[in-house]
Amino acid sequence: MTPVGFPAVRPRRLRRTPQLRRLVRESRLTPAQLVLPCFVKEGLTRPEAIPSMPGVVRHSLKSLAAEARQAQRLGIGSILLFGLPRRKDARGSQADAAEGIVQQAVRAVKAAASALTVITDVCLCEYTDHGHCGILRGTHVQNDATLARLAAIAVSQARAGADVVAPSAMMDGQVRAVRRALDAAGFTETPILAYAAKYCSAFYGPFRDAAASAPQRGDRQGYQMDPANVEEALREVALDIEEGADLVMVKPALAYLDVLRAVKERFHWPTAVYQVSGEYAMLKAAAARGWLDEDRATRELVTAMRRAGADLIITYAARRVAQQLHAAP
Ligand code: PBG
Repeated sequence: MTPVGFPAVRPRRLRRTPQLRRLVRESRLTPAQLVLPCFVKEGLTRPEAIPSMPGVVRHSLKSLAAEARQAQRLGIGSILLFGLPRRKDARGSQADAAEGIVQQAVRAVKAAASALTVITDVCLCEYTDHGHCGILRGTHVQNDATLARLAAIAVSQARAGADVVAPSAMMDGQVRAVRRALDAAGFTETPILAYAAKYCSAFYGPFRDAAASAPQRGDRQGYQMDPANVEEALREVALDIEEGADLVMVKPALAYLDVLRAVKERFHWPTAVYQVSGEYAMLKAAAARGWLDEDRATRELVTAMRRAGADLIITYAARRVAQQLHAAP
């Protein structure tokens, strides 16, 4: 006789063995869905450590090529390149120089690891002496003057061999401007990954150390999004899709998983999420003190991003995650 109140349905039945758990697992991740962001700095002969991002370096062209080969071996889908020029100026001239550092880096990665998809960041903040993502008048970033620069940068990156370009300046109309310029230059097949919902976040701190791209004066609240807003993110994504975004992005990840979920449910568009420098730094700092199990915590976070709807995950931990996925898919 079954005692009164005895549960007929026992969810624990499906949790009993690793085999059963794997059979009913809802979210899966493969290395092919990972994107590894890399910094490459002009004039380096050996890589430079970035103190606030343990395990991440500013690459030389040579060490970048080695990193790309390793990423390819691990089955990582893509690499996202950030160039750090020797000379910065008000208009970020080096960003679209034919022999600029990121253009050279694209060619080096393509030569070293032809199966990797190379994505390039289309922005000015790594290239301007004032550190803003566009052309300044006084302290104001001018939208339309910046669009022309972003378009030129995207074309020069495509010309160098970039497979996908990723405008990240948060200027209005940047996707349309980049699409038109690419088409006019004959790059009609080059997809655009739009940083559609990019929030004004404290979690970009270590990146700005890495790229020496912190604004000299002011901040980015005039163009990046207010963390309080989710409907605005949906409007941003709608606009970017209308303008020609092939993929859209939500950034950062951890504090914005609700936004990611809303974007995916509303648009059903290929959607990337960016686990940014500060999220990575937090994890590394706690792990270094023995306060968190780094592998488990990292895996849990990327799983949450998948569960929330990400098709692509951009993370500085891509190598570690790929290694884990090979060991325990
Ligand atoms: C460029 C850009 C930023 C990041 C990626 N592209 C930074 C910013 O707005 O300062 C941040 C990435 C990270 O923190 O890992 N506009």
